Amino acid sequence: MAALLLANIEPTDVWLTQVIVELEKRKPDLDLRVWPECGNPEDIGIILAWSPPFGIIQQFTNLQLIISLGVGVKHILRDPDLPANIPIVRLVYDRLAGQMFEYIARAVLSFKGRFLEYQQLQRSREWKYLDIPNGRSFVVGILGLGALGAIVAQKLATLGLTVRGWSRTEKTIAGVECFHGDEQFPDFLSQCQIVVCLLPLTPVTTGILCHETFTALPQGAYLINVGRGEHLVEADLLKALDSGQIAGACLDVFQTEPLPQNHPFWSHPQVIVTPHIAAVSDPGDAADRIVEAIDRSRTGKSLHDVIDRDRGY
Ligand code: NDP
Ligand code: OXD
Repeated sequence: MAALLLANIEPTDVWLTQVIVELEKRKPDLDLRVWPECGNPEDIGIILAWSPPFGIIQQFTNLQLIISLGVGVKHILRDPDLPANIPIVRLVYDRLAGQMFEYIARAVLSFKGRFLEYQQLQRSREWKYLDIPNGRSFVVGILGLGALGAIVAQKLATLGLTVRGWSRTEKTIAGVECFHGDEQFPDFLSQCQIVVCLLPLTPVTTGILCHETFTALPQGAYLINVGRGEHLVEADLLKALDSGQIAGACLDVFQTEPLPQNHPFWSHPQVIVTPHIAAVSDPGDAADRIVEAIDRSRTGKSLHDVIDRDRGY
């Protein structure tokens, strides 16, 4: 049974090429084909997918497993012709959460330390002290307490910050004040000086970073979005930055990626833009997870990190 790499990125992409090399090292006997060169569609039992073009997956009638080459899975679930009942496994592990923590910690500490304002003072050559809030009085809120969010929240608390988190179902995480459900959302937001989005993209979470959410935050709060571009209503953020409701934003994901050249975020003095790099899978780690999933599927063992299609994550 062959595996098919079905990704709408250039086959020469450096990351993808490295993953293929690492897979070959670990599983030299794997019959890995790269779309569109898939041979007989009946041979394909496993698909490794990143933003697969719509309607392709349904052609493989012997398919047993879909492996998302990323953490998010919306890029697969968008396909209106996606066959039902094929398990979808995603690549998620603690080292990735460690990277995500480092990215978020850098952004949180620079916002808390008012570096955006210091940069502006530097431009106008002003030597001026700004008050810095002390650790515990500074509240960071994490939207989404899943594989990444729960670890990020716990690690942020070790930096001496007050950390709260919000999820769909109730959670208990040491050192983190946990909120859940729509009813507790306004209460959760009301104290967050920084809000970090680590939600999956689902029909419910699309557009959650909007005017209503921004106005429920204390005035002058900061936003960090590392979830998905579609979580953010970009026009609402620009208005909130203009009004001072939001003091600054660190954005790693966007509605359109790469971010278009003429996009106002590029030159906005209160916005930090990074090119979707908050947590990038190491090709060796990715290959380890892929091999594990393939082996478990082939030997009929239960799979790890299978998503729930009804929930959308
Ligand atoms: P998980 O699926 O493990 O966790 C999702 C969390 O969000 C859960 O705690 C879940 O609650 C919560 N949630 C989902 N829907 C709702 C809702 N309607 N209301 C409240 N809470 C909700 O996700 P991960 O931690 O693995 O990843 C988070 C996101 O990070 C990914 O989906 C991806 O978009 C992004 N990502 C970004 C990267 C980057 O480089 N920028 C890299 C990797 C991932 P519950 O637990 O109760 O179900
Ligand atoms: C992912 C991502 O989902 O990089 O893996 O955002």
